[in-house]
Amino acid sequence: MKKVITYGSFDLFHEGHYNLLKRAKALGDELIVGVTTEQYDVYRGKMNVVDSLMRRIDNVRQSGLADEIIVEDHEGQKVEDIQKYGIDIIAFGSDWVDKFDYLKEYCEVVYFDRTQNVSSTILRHERLGVVNLGIVGTGRIAERLFQEAKFVSGVDVSCAYNPRQSSARKFGEAFEVAYCHDSYEAFLDKVDAVYVATPHETHYDYARRALILGKHVLCEKPMVLSELEARELYNIADENKVVLMEAVKTAYAPGFINLLAIARGGRIGTIYDVEAAFTKLTPYGPGIREYDPAVGGSFTELASYSLLPIVKLLGHDYKSIAFESFRTENGTDLYTKAHFKYDNATATAKTGIGVKSEGQLIVSGTKGYILAKSPWWLLKSFEVCYERTHENETFSAPFPGFGLRFELADFVRNISDTTHQNYKFSKEDSIFMSIVMEQFLKSTRRREKYEKI
Ligand code: CTP
Repeated sequence: MKKVITYGSFDLFHEGHYNLLKRAKALGDELIVGVTTEQYDVYRGKMNVVDSLMRRIDNVRQSGLADEIIVEDHEGQKVEDIQKYGIDIIAFGSDWVDKFDYLKEYCEVVYFDRTQNVSSTILRHERLGVVNLGIVGTGRIAERLFQEAKFVSGVDVSCAYNPRQSSARKFGEAFEVAYCHDSYEAFLDKVDAVYVATPHETHYDYARRALILGKHVLCEKPMVLSELEARELYNIADENKVVLMEAVKTAYAPGFINLLAIARGGRIGTIYDVEAAFTKLTPYGPGIREYDPAVGGSFTELASYSLLPIVKLLGHDYKSIAFESFRTENGTDLYTKAHFKYDNATATAKTGIGVKSEGQLIVSGTKGYILAKSPWWLLKSFEVCYERTHENETFSAPFPGFGLRFELADFVRNISDTTHQNYKFSKEDSIFMSIVMEQFLKSTRRREKYEKI
C-alpha cells in the first residue's frame, strides 16, 4: 500500500489542480491532500486568496481524487505529516522544483510539470481585474511599497510621480516603471489608484486631486492634519465611489488584529488603560523634514502608531485630551505625551524624535494586561500577563517584509469588492486621527503655520 501526499491552497480550483491531483493519485494507492489555511498562506507570502478554507476543501473533495483531506497550518508540518501518515511519496508542481528536496530524507519527492497557462493568480486577475497603482513620492517608503506589491495579487505598480525630475527618473529606472515629473494630471491619467507617500503637508492636495478624478487613494499617515480636510476627502471619495484608505500599516497586520481580538474578548477583563509609545531618534538640524516648523515634530511624525491601539480599544469618544511636550527652539516637539480621558479608561500616546524611550504597548485590564514589546508596530508577538505569572501566554503572528503588503491587500480588496467593510481601520478611525492631530497643532499654536501652507 503506497501512500502519496500533496499540498496547496487550491484557490479557485482549476484544471492545473485537477491534473496535479490525478497524477499524484496515480503514483500510489491512497492520496492525502493538505489544504492550507488562510493564515498559513499569509505567512508564506500568499495574499488575497479568494475562496474560504471550507470551499477550497470542498472543491478538492469534489474532484473525487483525494482519499483524505487535511489542513496545513504551519511550517514544518510536512515532515510531521509524512511520519504521522506513513507517507511514501510527496508530490508538487514544477514551480516547487528543488524547494522540497530536503524531504528526500523522509520519503520520495516527485515534481510534475505544471499545467500551462492556468493558475489561481491568473483566475484572480481575470475575476477581479488588476489595479494599476501609481506611487506619488519616490522616497524610502515608496521603494518599500513597490517591493511589497509583488506579494499582493491584483495590483501592478505601473507609474511613479515626483515633481523633481531627477528623483522621478531615478525611481523609474531602478524599478522599471513609467514615471512622470511634469504633470500630476498626466500621471493620474495612467493609473486607477494612487499611493501617496510624500511629506505630510502635501497629502491633502495630492489625495484630493486624485479622488476628484475618480482614482482610489491609499494615503500614508498622517493622512491630513485637520478634521475638516479628512471629512472633505472622505466625502469626495464617497461621491465618486472610490476607496480612500489611510495607510497605518499596523492596523492591517494579523498580529495586531489578534491582539485586539484577545483584548476585546475579555481575557484581561475590563480595559482601564492603554499606553503606547513610539520613539525614533532623528538628529535636529536646519532643513530636516522631521523638524519642519509648521508640521514637523514627534507627534505628527509618529503618533499615528501610538494612537492606533487607543482608538481601536477605547473608541472615538474621549472626554478630554492634554498634551505635554518638550520642544526645540523652532517650536517642534522632541517628545510628546498625549493623555486621554475616557468615561471609564485612560490612555497615553508617547512619541519622541529627540528623546528615546522604551517603545511598548501595554493594555491594562481587571484580570491581567497585554504587553507588546518594541517594535510592537511591526507586531510579531505579544504576551498576556496575569497575577500568577506561570499562567502568562505568548501569541505570535507573521509580519513578513516591511508589513505593507497587508494594507495593500486590503486596499485592492476594497477596490474590487465595494461591500467589504474596512473594519480594520475605518473612516471614523482615520477622522479620529485627524482630530487629535489638529488638537495637537492647536495646542502648540502652530496651527496657523499649517493653514498657510
Ligand atoms: N499546479 C500545477 N499546475 C498549475 C497550477 C498549480 O501543477 N497550473 C500545482 C502546484 O504546483 C501545486 C498545486 O498545484 O503543487 C497546488 O497549487 P496552488 O498553489 O494551490 O495553485 P496555483 O494555481 O499555483 O496558485 P497561485 O497562482 O495562487 O500560486
